[in-house]
Amino acid sequence: MTRYLVRPGSRLAGRFPVPGDKSISHRAVILGALAEGVTEVEGLLEGADVLATIAAFRSMGVQMEGPDKGHLRIYGAGLQGLRAPVVPLDCGNSGTAMRLLAGVLAGQPFPSTLVGDASLQKRPMGRILNPLRAMGAEIAAQDGRAPLHIHGRPLHGIDYALPVASAQVKSAVLLAGLYADGQTCVTEPAPTRDHSERMLQGFGHPVERHGPRACLRGGGRLCGQALQVPGDISSAAFFLLGATIAPGSDLTLEGVGINPTRTGIIEILTRMGARIDLTALREVGGEPVADIRVRYAPLQGIAIPRRLVPLAIDEFPALFIAAACAKGQTVIAGAEELRVKESDRIAVMAGGLRALGATVEERVDGAIISGSALLGGRVDSHGDHRIAMAFAMAALVAQGDMEILDCANVATSFPSFPVLAQQAGLLLEVASA
Ligand code: S3P
Repeated sequence: MTRYLVRPGSRLAGRFPVPGDKSISHRAVILGALAEGVTEVEGLLEGADVLATIAAFRSMGVQMEGPDKGHLRIYGAGLQGLRAPVVPLDCGNSGTAMRLLAGVLAGQPFPSTLVGDASLQKRPMGRILNPLRAMGAEIAAQDGRAPLHIHGRPLHGIDYALPVASAQVKSAVLLAGLYADGQTCVTEPAPTRDHSERMLQGFGHPVERHGPRACLRGGGRLCGQALQVPGDISSAAFFLLGATIAPGSDLTLEGVGINPTRTGIIEILTRMGARIDLTALREVGGEPVADIRVRYAPLQGIAIPRRLVPLAIDEFPALFIAAACAKGQTVIAGAEELRVKESDRIAVMAGGLRALGATVEERVDGAIISGSALLGGRVDSHGDHRIAMAFAMAALVAQGDMEILDCANVATSFPSFPVLAQQAGLLLEVASA
């Protein structure tokens, strides 16, 4: 088992880019595979989650070269060019891979099976099964969980109001909509990441957007593209946390995506008192990007506005740590989605923080965290990449050494985390066994 051993007392400094955005990388592979012509991706995240999506399309006959140093060349098969896979498609730990692939596969003229690891096979798939079935899909699951057995069928467009704010569900329905008769529309209850809508447009497929509603028509064609993937703000988040809480820190993260549907972490940390400056604002691959400078600042507890929850949905492990390091109480509410991520992030973060001596009141939809000194000790990440990285940063200000268990899945989203964190000054050692 991979463990992190982290000594306290250092600070973070330097200037470096973070790896490519995971959500955008998945979508680049998917749309590149379904496009006509060649798609050249630069800055692709070579994490296990994205590699699973690449492997799935290779199993369906799509030719690709790479990935190598973030470069992937995809020879698009066209919307109708996928071949029946002869093996189950293994999505590993990745909810995005499974849910978006299910959208693509629902309308194919062949059967397919999607499987995942133990964590993924526990996660709710009913949220995609319902709209896809309403479009005419035939998908068998066990109690709304993977494995998903998909019998590809002709689909028809729907007008779907998402019951939960989920970019994965929105994207699954829109991707299925490419294969459906007529128009497919999704309306979301709160804004979620819009990378699918942006990238579909970039590949030449019109998406009409009116406030919370996005619509597209089935058919047509996607055109192969040259595409640069911006740095992942969800990976940058751990460094924003670490530099904010460790006195004397001053760090600049280069080329980070600042799509407004992803910047909840910056707004929340800033409200808590963080010192974060955005410079060199520019556009990369149809997405806004900036360099982000973050310096140490004392934090104050706040009630996190509910509207910011979907805009920071992957950043709550980091925010739990920020809250524990802040003066006073931080209230997290309206965040029940955290219970169905790679782990139950409310329970696992509360458990980990309590193991370090913090006071956390767990709620069904969040937690109330009282700021206090953190002791050292042992924390179990429960195989959740973001929880492992968040606690690694907490060690900066702990009173003793920390040991974080079950860290191998950091490789799903941020394989270079230990090395970058060490270079920035974190006293981290990776131990296996
Ligand atoms: C993602 C959407 C979010 C997020 C996940 C990636 C995506 O999930 O938590 O890490 O790429 O669309 P939900 O759509 O389930 O909120």
